[in-house]
Amino acid sequence: MLDRSYVVPCGKRGSVLGQAEVRALTELVQGDAPLSMGTWRDRFERAFAELVGSRHALTATSGTVSLELAIQLLDLRPGDEVIATPQTYQATVMPLLDREVTVRFCDVDPMTLNISPAAVEALITPRTRALLLVHYGGCPAEMDEITALARRHGVLVVEDCAHALGAEYRGRRPGSLADIACFSFQNAKNITTLGEGGMVTFDRDDWAVRLERLRGNDVDARIVPQERIDPDEPLVLPWMKYSAAVYSDRVTRIRRAGTNATMSEAAAAVGLAQLGNLDALQGVRRSIAGRLDEVLRRYAFVRPQQAPAHSRHAHHLYTCFVEGRGLRDQLLLALDRRGVEIQLRYFPLHLTPEWRYRGHSRGECPVAESMWFDQHLNLPCHPGLRPSQVDYLVEALDESLAEVQATAEGAARPAALAAG
Ligand SMILES: Cc1ncc(COP(=O)(O)O)c(C=O)c1O
Repeated sequence: MLDRSYVVPCGKRGSVLGQAEVRALTELVQGDAPLSMGTWRDRFERAFAELVGSRHALTATSGTVSLELAIQLLDLRPGDEVIATPQTYQATVMPLLDREVTVRFCDVDPMTLNISPAAVEALITPRTRALLLVHYGGCPAEMDEITALARRHGVLVVEDCAHALGAEYRGRRPGSLADIACFSFQNAKNITTLGEGGMVTFDRDDWAVRLERLRGNDVDARIVPQERIDPDEPLVLPWMKYSAAVYSDRVTRIRRAGTNATMSEAAAAVGLAQLGNLDALQGVRRSIAGRLDEVLRRYAFVRPQQAPAHSRHAHHLYTCFVEGRGLRDQLLLALDRRGVEIQLRYFPLHLTPEWRYRGHSRGECPVAESMWFDQHLNLPCHPGLRPSQVDYLVEALDESLAEVQATAEGAARPAALAAG
């Protein structure tokens, strides 16, 4: 990691913790309730399911583990095809490296960086089994068109909602817009469960049973309940009834070994407190994004990522696009010189070594490639910024854009004179 401190950092934390989190942790630390698998996890899960509008919400230890578990539930078979966005963090598609499936990376829309329904349709074949999408930066993807397409072709849709907590799509929330969804509460996200954590949301009851086993160190298997061998055998202690029943059950198919993905009570307690503060946290993100939008409107060569009119952006990332040869890099340097930390999220995944090894190459997703290499940048936008830092950011952005515009006009003038 570069040792450089910025006047306006992209965010040591994506969220702000306060008295509600301290109270929850104090109650937990000073009490004698269990520190794992207690009531905080249940309460967090119930509140989360209610918020996003899903029947089930199950915590896990990270967004990555949530995605691994969700993908396990899809029952992918060798030879299946999975369509995936290349414009995301590697964890979205990483679990597919372990499977003998063909991944077809789908190009993105230049306004949103989300996969476009038309590009998805062009990639669907009779072998397509699943689609992995991300609501990039918190901007909801066009879910109605995508899920209608998927339903017509029998394709399961996974929403990676790592950025999308706080977003809305046609009055509903990401997490309830497709077959299954995964959230991350890692340090940088809109809310956090003490640095790491994740959640899987969906409606299917059979998946809830399987996921509960998978995350709880049990085997993901088909289990046929059997009668106890001797129903009249006396039990030494009441709970032994449960043990006896388990021993007499029969496994008819093993899908995969489970793991321990149990979220700690401390993490869940903080998650619940953070959820209670979500509207306020989102309000700060919206207000910063609004001020940055206002600056961009003064310059014709730059535009913000545009959420569709029927949706609400979660502003996990503030993304803008700079048009004109070399101008994005000039703006990046001008902002960096002024102490504003810039990010470029994310390098197109199909060009990473592991996916090139699998046969993917440049030219496969031309829009995703040209946006990342030439146009796109992410500005700081998070509730950890003090008002004075936001004022500084707004001013530094305006000055940097004016500087880049003046340089571009200066370079264009001799060319115009030569042409004239
Ligand atoms: C789009 C996306 N998916 C998945 C993840 C993985 O989440 P985690 O870091 O909680 O494992 C992240 C971020 O970290 C992400 O940005």
